[in-house]
Amino acid sequence: MVRTFILKSSEGRTAPDFSIKSLAGSGGRMDLVARCVIAAFATPRGIRKDAVLSIVLEGPPNPPITVTIDGRELNRMFISEVEAAGALRDALSGRPPKGVRVERKGFERLIREMPRESLYYLHENGEEIGRVKIGKDPIFVLGDQKGIDERGERVLDEAGARRVSLGPISYLASHCIVIINNELDQIIVGE
Ligand SMILES: C[S@@+](CC[C@H](N)C(=O)[O-])C[C@H]1O[C@@H](n2cnc3c(N)ncnc32)[C@H](O)[C@@H]1O
Repeated sequence: MVRTFILKSSEGRTAPDFSIKSLAGSGGRMDLVARCVIAAFATPRGIRKDAVLSIVLEGPPNPPITVTIDGRELNRMFISEVEAAGALRDALSGRPPKGVRVERKGFERLIREMPRESLYYLHENGEEIGRVKIGKDPIFVLGDQKGIDERGERVLDEAGARRVSLGPISYLASHCIVIINNELDQIIVGE
């Protein structure tokens, strides 16, 4: 089972001109994005190979850009925000590390390419995740500090994404990824 996460980053910078020392400011919340990269792939025993993370960057100066990181192809682990953001900056500079792909693609197109039956929209008011039978190769869509805007939600509804909740409390996007990884790891071990 490969789990895919799609992060809609409404302010994530679309040029490699952000400062690694000011990820939250000049990077348009690249700190949040970097934490999601770590949450998706870093484990104490090495790179998580069964995860893919697509980050839709919608910030200035040149949106949209989708950066996809595929754990099956990664050969280095990003354990700090500096390393993860550095890899994103290299990717945006035309020097993507192995396992990282950059495309000129926006949220709507990306979502429409996904198989309907695999799409889950992480939302506080969705169905409790424990009650939902998660299918093979699921795709989880999540928002950034602003959540997902109305237009994005419409795209997800039209694409047939099922809303699933991790509980009534709102968690950080990176923490949601950790929770999902843990949930799915338990399903796999229990199979
Ligand atoms: C920091 S939260 C966004 C908070 C934002 N203020 C809002 O109202 O949407 C980032 C994303 O994590 C996901 N998320 C956070 N808590 C969740 C929960 N309890 N269940 C499901 N998804 C959650 C959602 O996809 C959300 O867009």
